[in-house]
Amino acid sequence: MSRGALAVPRGGGDETMMNAEVEEMEDTAVCEVDVRSVTVRFSDGVEHAFPVRPDQTILAAAKEHDVRLVHQCLTGSCGTCVTRVASGKVRMSTARGTSLLPSEAAEGFRLTCTSFCDSDAVLQFDYPSSVLDEPGPARCTAEVADAAWVASNVVRLTLRLPKDAGLEFRSGQYVRVQVPGTEEWRSYSMASTVADLPELVLLLRVLDAGVMSDYLRSRARAGDLIELEGPFGMFYLREAKGQHIMIAGGTGLAPMLGMLEDIRMRAGRKPKVLLSFGCASEDNLFYVDELDVRAAWLPGLKVKVAVANPGEAYRGLVGNPVEVISAADISDPATAVAYLCGPPPMIESARAHLERLGVLPENIHAEHFSASAA
Ligand SMILES: Cc1cc2nc3c(=O)[nH]c(=O)nc-3n(C[C@H](O)[C@H](O)[C@H](O)COP(=O)(O)OP(=O)(O)OC[C@H]3O[C@@H](n4cnc5c(N)ncnc54)[C@H](O)[C@@H]3O)c2cc1C
Ligand code: FES
Repeated sequence: MSRGALAVPRGGGDETMMNAEVEEMEDTAVCEVDVRSVTVRFSDGVEHAFPVRPDQTILAAAKEHDVRLVHQCLTGSCGTCVTRVASGKVRMSTARGTSLLPSEAAEGFRLTCTSFCDSDAVLQFDYPSSVLDEPGPARCTAEVADAAWVASNVVRLTLRLPKDAGLEFRSGQYVRVQVPGTEEWRSYSMASTVADLPELVLLLRVLDAGVMSDYLRSRARAGDLIELEGPFGMFYLREAKGQHIMIAGGTGLAPMLGMLEDIRMRAGRKPKVLLSFGCASEDNLFYVDELDVRAAWLPGLKVKVAVANPGEAYRGLVGNPVEVISAADISDPATAVAYLCGPPPMIESARAHLERLGVLPENIHAEHFSASAA
């Protein structure tokens, strides 16, 4: 497996933002009695405890006490810094937006970059402490090798990275790219694997209006230069023997493609995989033949492709990629591990549906394509 650079950003704007936030919080004098103790617990059992003042986010306090936690935007929009509260009262700032879904907040998930402690607390992180020793994100200038429409609203962008780019990633993670000719950055999941480097493939949904969408629709050409940084995110394959359930809405298919390839290349017995992929209409569908090929390569892979609003001639599955999954599709919910990717409402309904079918909440991993994580 590649050494996915999941951890603390090195240098650049994010680090500056972090320091600014810490300093801002330090200006306020706080009575010592209000200081809470937070224990962070990683999936490999490693724990660290540190004090958190009531006016300080958990992430800022961790940084002050040299405890490293994975993060990226620091503004509540990317979801990378997510944790689950095992005990204690942890409140998320209402002053800032959040990429957490209401159901996730209700289940005890919190974003450490916007959360404060109202009591001593124990926080469980869904990754081993060892990822914090991996290299940080790299930054480079990539060249557009190809920009091809693969559906009425989807462009496949193939980027060529310089040989010394230093980008290593785990399938499922995302990069940030600067929209050419603008100061705007957008996040995209890798649809290719680290083995495909120096080529990197992204699948981008083209909206009616949007900075990246406008670039793709009107100006994107082979030879364009694009600033890129990454990888980011904690959406990657976990070591699990149970059935893998992947639910992808539209371009949410991108990270699943890399993950499927990783499973195929893995030595030894491969898990059963159910991939449910859905689009709004038939002309939005893409990569259907590609998925047939993947199923032929990976005999344990079952693919369901669904269209929500099909035309009369359509003969396939009708519905969204969540509702077409039934109890019969899941062999053993207690050991199944799920990966969800797409727009936030799809993630919300997928999480609820899978939990109803018996999949354990801690075995459900999600990447939201939220709009605000520019
Ligand atoms: C971690 C992460 C990974 C992502 N990976 C992918 C990916 O692999 N493929 C992909 O296509 N997108 C992905 N996205 C979404 C992507 O980052 C952009 O938000 C999206 O491409 C729109 O950018 P834009 O510049 O065209 O529109 P913007 O200029 O950002 O937005 C213009 C308008 O459209 C609305 N809008 C923005 N994004 C969306 C959206 N996704 N759905 C509905 N309305 C929206 C905005 O509210 C605004 O009104 C990801 C987002 C995150 C946070
Ligand atoms: S770092 Fe907390 S949501 Fe992005």
